[in-house]
Amino acid sequence: MNDYWNHNTAYHPELLASVPHHTSRVLDVGCGDGLLLQKLAARTKHVTGIDPDATALSQARARFSIPSETRFILGDFLTSPELDTQRFDLITCVATLHHMPLIPALERMRDLLNPGGQLRVVGLAANKTIPDWVISGFLLVPIRLMSKAHRESGYPDMMTARPAESFTEIREAAARTLPGSRVRRRFYYRYTLAWTRPHSS
Ligand SMILES: C[S@@+](CC[C@H](N)C(=O)[O-])C[C@H]1O[C@@H](n2cnc3c(N)ncnc32)[C@H](O)[C@@H]1O
Repeated sequence: MNDYWNHNTAYHPELLASVPHHTSRVLDVGCGDGLLLQKLAARTKHVTGIDPDATALSQARARFSIPSETRFILGDFLTSPELDTQRFDLITCVATLHHMPLIPALERMRDLLNPGGQLRVVGLAANKTIPDWVISGFLLVPIRLMSKAHRESGYPDMMTARPAESFTEIREAAARTLPGSRVRRRFYYRYTLAWTRPHSS
């Protein structure tokens, strides 16, 4: 599947707009079949994707038929030693944070950023409170209509998981781990988390 639209790819344009410049070092955590990686590689040549799913990673590699500087790491973001010595200007993470323990994942993202580097997460949260359920209920029909309008293609065959934390729990964890971060509820049953690593930390 080359290009497609779904509730995750809907946020690709704003992630691409976060690439600081054409020499930025970018990491996509849980790159899956590599659609975002492919788009990022058009903005900067220093792009790395990590995913523990060998099938998804081989699909990602197949997107880069010409020799490319894009790096692919088959492994777990939390423990991959290949990442330990690297630092990035932008880390993206789409529909993947809920596959990992929340605080350790946020801490590792924080630690792998250069000073001034940016973290951009598009995530899923669990409905736990009455406002969570009410908001989801109100969004149901408009989201269905938008999905039809965009001819939502469904989701590629990648590892999925149910989110464990609610939006409020994620916002609290982010406030503790990444002071100054911005966590917002977004339209397609997603939240976005944005943080810039201070130059002084
Ligand atoms: C729902 S898919 C999303 C893939 C892609 N980011 C997208 O937006 O289409 C979640 C991805 O997270 C990956 N994943 C799960 N645990 C991971 C971990 N510990 N480190 C890195 N990636 C992980 C899965 O293999 C899967 O490809």
